[in-house]
Amino acid sequence: MAKKILKGVLVLMLLITVLGCNTPAKAKTPGQAELLYARETLHNNFSTTPLDQKFIDLIVRAAFTAPTGGGQRSVEFFVVTDREVMKSIQRGHPYSSGLDTAPLVVVVAANETLARYPELHEMDSGLAAMAMIVQATDLGLASCVLSISPQEERVQSAANALSMPDIYTPVLMVAFGYPAADARTGASVDYKESQVHTNAY
Ligand SMILES: Cc1cc2nc3c(=O)[nH]c(=O)nc-3n(C[C@H](O)[C@H](O)[C@H](O)COP(=O)(O)O)c2cc1C
Repeated sequence: MAKKILKGVLVLMLLITVLGCNTPAKAKTPGQAELLYARETLHNNFSTTPLDQKFIDLIVRAAFTAPTGGGQRSVEFFVVTDREVMKSIQRGHPYSSGLDTAPLVVVVAANETLARYPELHEMDSGLAAMAMIVQATDLGLASCVLSISPQEERVQSAANALSMPDIYTPVLMVAFGYPAADARTGASVDYKESQVHTNAY
């Protein structure tokens, strides 16, 4: 009897080992920056759960880690948690359903008076957005980039909603929040060797 039990336990252990080995390992390359792969976009389906002020501060501070063209540091950040202000931004933006429920949106705007290279504002804003997204991912949050500039209607509605003086041009915004239940999409990573050209085409 004891022999039978021992045999059963051994078979079970063997099965666990084999099945464990066959579980597809999460594709991981040594040195790979996990946070970049954990990033998650939600177009809608953000939970309305408010974010701790500490989280908001961390996200906004992260934006200041991003490089800027010639070190101009002329993009600024409008932090929005008020749903009415979000609704006002949405009036001129046809693809902004994320703001229906997201508890936070950060509008990145160029301060033209600080600019030395205004033609680099879009790049500066994109890099700041990515820095905020990486920080938010580390906090377990999903995000969505929403373009504003150069579409005039979007620029006007964001500028009006935030009472921006004329020296500002809103460039883009990023919505942040927890995914609503069952809304997790996972990172969409689509590496294509055909889109990588080493030294020449
Ligand atoms: C420059 C830029 C502009 C975008 N504009 C919008 C937008 O206006 N509205 C929106 O819902 N999503 C917008 N997105 C989000 C993209 O649609 C989303 O990143 C894309 O579907 C890819 O999904 P992924 O982030 O999971 O790879 C934008 C993303 C980028 C990078």
